Amino acid sequence: EETGKSGYEHYMLKEIHEQPRALRQCLRGRVNEMEGRVSLDVDFDPERVQFVACGTSYHAALCGAHLLQRSGIPAQAFLASEYATSPPPIGEDLVVGVTQSGETADTLSALREARRRGARTLAVTNVVGSTVSRECDQTLYVRAGPEIGVAATKTFAAQVVALTMLALTTDGEQRDAIAALRDLPGNVQAVLDSSTAREVAEEYVDSEAFFFIGRGLCYPVALEGALKFKEITYEHAEGFAAGELKHGPLALVTEDTPVFAVVTGDGELARKTIGNVKEVEARDAPVIAVTDGQSDVERYADHVLRIPTSEPRTAAVLANVQLQLVAYHTAAMLGRSIDKPRNLAKSVTVE
Ligand code: AGP
Repeated sequence: EETGKSGYEHYMLKEIHEQPRALRQCLRGRVNEMEGRVSLDVDFDPERVQFVACGTSYHAALCGAHLLQRSGIPAQAFLASEYATSPPPIGEDLVVGVTQSGETADTLSALREARRRGARTLAVTNVVGSTVSRECDQTLYVRAGPEIGVAATKTFAAQVVALTMLALTTDGEQRDAIAALRDLPGNVQAVLDSSTAREVAEEYVDSEAFFFIGRGLCYPVALEGALKFKEITYEHAEGFAAGELKHGPLALVTEDTPVFAVVTGDGELARKTIGNVKEVEARDAPVIAVTDGQSDVERYADHVLRIPTSEPRTAAVLANVQLQLVAYHTAAMLGRSIDKPRNLAKSVTVE
């Protein structure tokens, strides 16, 4: 077992550090920089897309839906466990199941429901030969390599990159995005080498609750940051769309509830999230900015977790690495069972 961890104290930490390699594997042979094109061995030319997924994979699916919408393809992400309760019209939609294990019962059953109603299906999975890959019409492998820790880390990064590539196949020439993907493994390594997440964890480990906010692609990152945090620390953590804070969650914010604000770029979304940061700051909550330094969010933050400057699609993956590390170090300080958190299983094969 110790050998399997390659000297790391936990599989989760090892897998967090394996992300540069996982992303290189995910990208290999699929992006052509010379031609400014992505080519995947799946047919992907849908009218509209419905994603179905659970947990962390659902957060990757939210990123996928956001990216496709940006490319002009109507797309929506559904929690697989809710899909059958109110099934959306299928029409010509492609239904995409995102699942690391390829064995999650809720996701398989949503895909079966979609197929029963005539949908074409695509699996996005990490496990070759998994049930989802056998049952769907086509499969896009994320190639992250085996993941042992119950908390998904490198597979989330690879899912987001795989879905980014999928969206790019519909977009024609995309030189900026392709350059950002090429630089992503190195930029993840830079985050791993320089992160101050441990100090942040030390400072706030005894807090009452932990909140995560973001907009656009940073919203699923906020949700994922909170899910990782609650899974392995057993502390109360919630992710919110930054704009929703004042519609309720702001009532929870106190000086004892650190708020992690994911702010990338310097556009309208960043400006609006900074407005939300000021709102929580006015309630004396500590603010930890996860940022590429393009906006002035650092002026309002108690701590900064820096990520390299890149474009929005890849910035989301980089910001998530910082949040993985905060969750990991907090859980380690609390002495939690990081690789096998209480009550959780790596693959949930019952509905
Ligand atoms: C992630 O950290 C969780 N363990 C969990 O939310 C997981 O993502 C979910 O159960 C879906 O699993 P899948 O990707 O294998 O379908």
